[in-house]
Amino acid sequence: MPRHFITGTELRAEELQGLIQRAAELKAAPDSSDALRGRSVALIFQKPSTRTRVSFETGVFELGGHPMVLRTDELQLSRGESVRDTAYVLSRHAAAIGIRTGDDELVSEMAAHASVPVINMLTPSHHPCQALADLLTLQECFGRLDGLAIAYVGDGNNVARSLIEVGRLAGIDVRVAAPDGYQLDPHDGATLTGDPREAVRGANAVYTDVWVSMSDDPASAQERRRDLAPYRLSDELLDLAAPGAIALHCLPAHPGEEITEQVLYGPRQRIWDQAENRRHAQKALLELLIGA
Ligand code: CP
Ligand code: NVA
Repeated sequence: MPRHFITGTELRAEELQGLIQRAAELKAAPDSSDALRGRSVALIFQKPSTRTRVSFETGVFELGGHPMVLRTDELQLSRGESVRDTAYVLSRHAAAIGIRTGDDELVSEMAAHASVPVINMLTPSHHPCQALADLLTLQECFGRLDGLAIAYVGDGNNVARSLIEVGRLAGIDVRVAAPDGYQLDPHDGATLTGDPREAVRGANAVYTDVWVSMSDDPASAQERRRDLAPYRLSDELLDLAAPGAIALHCLPAHPGEEITEQVLYGPRQRIWDQAENRRHAQKALLELLIGA
């Protein structure tokens, strides 16, 4: 059975710890592994991407492999070929399959039929590759993960859910502050509140994401901006967190909406490191999944 990475919780805690350590090693020596030499990785994008595409494409190349980027309209999937048949065929050629889609079920179905690892590169519910890069960034800043407290403020979306689920595996206390109607389900196991000031108290990092995700109805954008306005990540909010707290954002950002321009480009952010860390973390993930 191939090892898949759909929610991130497929990893055991010690595997996650090892992966973050390996990602740091690969960051220090980007050309030191040829785990994918002579092999291809299929990267299916049914939704737009900047970071995920360039970090996977560059990362696979650095591991000695060939990144095969496949957009929706380039696959027979768009003309009714089944996910099952697509999984069978891709598995005969590629060492792994990454997929970004607006349909969580499609990823599960691909994983059910693929004989190579399937990696979730973002769905409406999960973004576990982002969470790996977030953990690497936190590890770099604080030298540890266990016992850290992270406050996520804004929309309780895919990025927030993966931060909770993967963060919990690493011993991180994740609090999510979101208004009614935007909060995650209680069973997600984090501290959920409506009050951003309460969430950030004592937090080592304050994290936010866009207010309108790719899976949200664009017609709701104005309402979402109004409802989420009190949750903006600003210097004033960061001041209420622990001394030395950092600001995180998975990007793309909308300065003036979910984050102020001062924070996005200021001295307390580690956002651009986070964007770089996507590549290092995903290289370590690929090595782990293909058993290199
Ligand atoms: N953070 C992230 O996944 O960015 P992209 O949508 O640009 O890939
Ligand atoms: N929550 C955002 C993340 C983008 C990387 C979205 O799903 O569009």
